[in-house]
Amino acid sequence: MHISVFDPASPQAAKLLWLWNACFWICAFILAVVTISIAYMLVRYRWRGGDEPAQTSGNQRLEFGWTAIPISLVAVLFVLSVVAARAVDRPVRRDPDIVVTGHQWWWQVNYPSNGAITANEIHIPVGRETLIAVESADVIHDFWVPRLGRKIDAIPGRRNFIWIQADQAGEYKGACAEFCGAQHAWMRFRVVAQDPADYDSWLAGQAAPATEPESEEAKTGRERFRQLTCSNCHNIRGVNQQRQFAPDLTHLAGRQMLAGERIENTPENLRRWLHDPDSIKPESLMPNLHLDDNDLNALTAYLAALK
Ligand code: CUA
Repeated sequence: MHISVFDPASPQAAKLLWLWNACFWICAFILAVVTISIAYMLVRYRWRGGDEPAQTSGNQRLEFGWTAIPISLVAVLFVLSVVAARAVDRPVRRDPDIVVTGHQWWWQVNYPSNGAITANEIHIPVGRETLIAVESADVIHDFWVPRLGRKIDAIPGRRNFIWIQADQAGEYKGACAEFCGAQHAWMRFRVVAQDPADYDSWLAGQAAPATEPESEEAKTGRERFRQLTCSNCHNIRGVNQQRQFAPDLTHLAGRQMLAGERIENTPENLRRWLHDPDSIKPESLMPNLHLDDNDLNALTAYLAALK
């Protein structure tokens, strides 16, 4: 799963690359003309002894030429930009398919159609245009999936929209592209493009309440989740109901990564994260609760089974 604007996987990203290429070749042409002209002048008019050459001032044709050529280049670039912008930013509906909210330093992902909530892993149906509303819960972030489209800022108190589409099933890396604090670099996410049928069943599964714990240890884990301060910030559907201060954990084990893609989502890493979040992601808002081994084991057993 690489991250590159030069390998577009959606019509929007392809159009942006088209604009990039046009700008690149126009600029390359200008650079070549200027460089070759300077080199030519240096050789052709080098000093060979004798007096200064005749000095001329005011040449209407030259003045006209070096005004008209740049203006027409800018006009061409303007037209190309408008064409690309119209292809990328088409009119939006008021009811987005997905609402993505930037938090320091993770992404909340809501599906208004059925109330599903997840984090840092955005599923979309392949080949279908998906409208995402982008918001922020704290500071300015920037939502960017280079292979799928443009960047768009997540601004507190404002709702921006972006169309996302993936031509092929697969995973596409995303990142926060606006410096937003200590862990800006680990505000990563991924877009998972699935066959529509797989997507529908995934989405239905995400809206379901959390699975019941099976082992005794996992049951204890659920109890400790309620008793410790975990449940003040995190939600587990069917267990507690809280404002979304932190990633929803209802289907935590179904996600591939933890902590804004900082670490892989394995039971060992989950335990490490619960034990000492700061050693993994300094300054993250996840506190160190100084859990003992019993709590760590119980919580890990419970959370790691929440598919
Ligand atoms: Cu959020 Cu950078």
